[in-house]
Amino acid sequence: MDVNKRKFDRKFYSFHPRWLWLGAAAALSFIVSSDGVAQEEKKEEATVIKAIADAAAKAVKAAKSGSGQSGTGANVYQRICLNCHGDKGQGNLQLRTPSIAGLPGWYVMAQLTKFKTRLRGAHEKDLTGAQMHAIALSLNEEQMKEAAAVIAKMPLHATQNTLKGDAAKGMYVYMDQCMECHRYNGSGEVAFRSGQLVGLQDWYMLGQLEKFRAGIRGTDRKDEDGLRMREIASRLRDQDLANVLAYVAQLAEQYVGELNAAADKGGK
Ligand code: HEC
Ligand code: HEC
Repeated sequence: MDVNKRKFDRKFYSFHPRWLWLGAAAALSFIVSSDGVAQEEKKEEATVIKAIADAAAKAVKAAKSGSGQSGTGANVYQRICLNCHGDKGQGNLQLRTPSIAGLPGWYVMAQLTKFKTRLRGAHEKDLTGAQMHAIALSLNEEQMKEAAAVIAKMPLHATQNTLKGDAAKGMYVYMDQCMECHRYNGSGEVAFRSGQLVGLQDWYMLGQLEKFRAGIRGTDRKDEDGLRMREIASRLRDQDLANVLAYVAQLAEQYVGELNAAADKGGK
């Protein structure tokens, strides 16, 4: 049985261009989600899935057409990433995509590599991660670097504050449990491999904290950064989540301008 499966896998991998995984992931999320839909959010879920499938289809087409020579004038970001992350890297609630504008180059490279090597986005319950896994598979090192450079130059957007937590309470949590690695201003720190939090939407961060807590992100033994963050996230109490993210939104209000100015100086 195992041998047959391996044979099948080998055939499948060698016959199918990588971009096909993208379509597969979109189809998969469609099937899986439409099963679980019965419980809640029926109609909203259907439009979301349609929007994701459309965006993924566009990205597939772009990845396909650009897989030969680049001569279209458009960069990797514009051809592929824009379809889901938006023209200014602002992300999209409907597509569940994060605002990646202004993320430092080292962090984007690290995450793309994790998506590609299945350290992130490979868990069966990680439907949004599965899409990025498929995208990352279609990229080579050069294309990753190109996209990362474009993203790093995009101005950060202010963090959305949709969860309406209590920022004053969140401040204590942040100072006590987050600041050490994500810094006083939420910019993250390459030395700790910690991501930049300001600029990300609060609903995206909540989703990631929940993934860490549920063992959907940060569980692979080779994912040292993810493991570290998973440990922190599992210590958080439910009521801390919205509060600490409200504080991050406040930090963003305070520091986004400064971080953008620093990035423009070529500091990143
Ligand atoms: C089909 C839609 C889609 C396309 C196209 C796409 N992404 Fe994503 N991306 C996502 C989703 C959804 C997530 C959120 C994954 C999660 O929830 O863990 C994501 C997450 C990311 C992250 C992680 C951000 C963080 O804060 O950790 C990076 C970096 C990223 N994408 C970069 C890119 C780049 C670069 C491209 C183009 C080469 C691209 N994406 C194209 C859907 C897409
Ligand atoms: C010991 C260092 C450390 C501490 C303390 C820490 N983090 Fe992290 N955090 C990380 C690292 C490292 C990552 C990157 C994980 C990866 O590469 O997948 C991360 C990632 C994250 C992410 C995902 C960002 C993204 O772009 O997807 C969020 C959200 C986050 N941390 C929030 C918090 C919050 C809130 C706290 C405090 C309660 C906190 N972190 C405390 C190290 C830390």
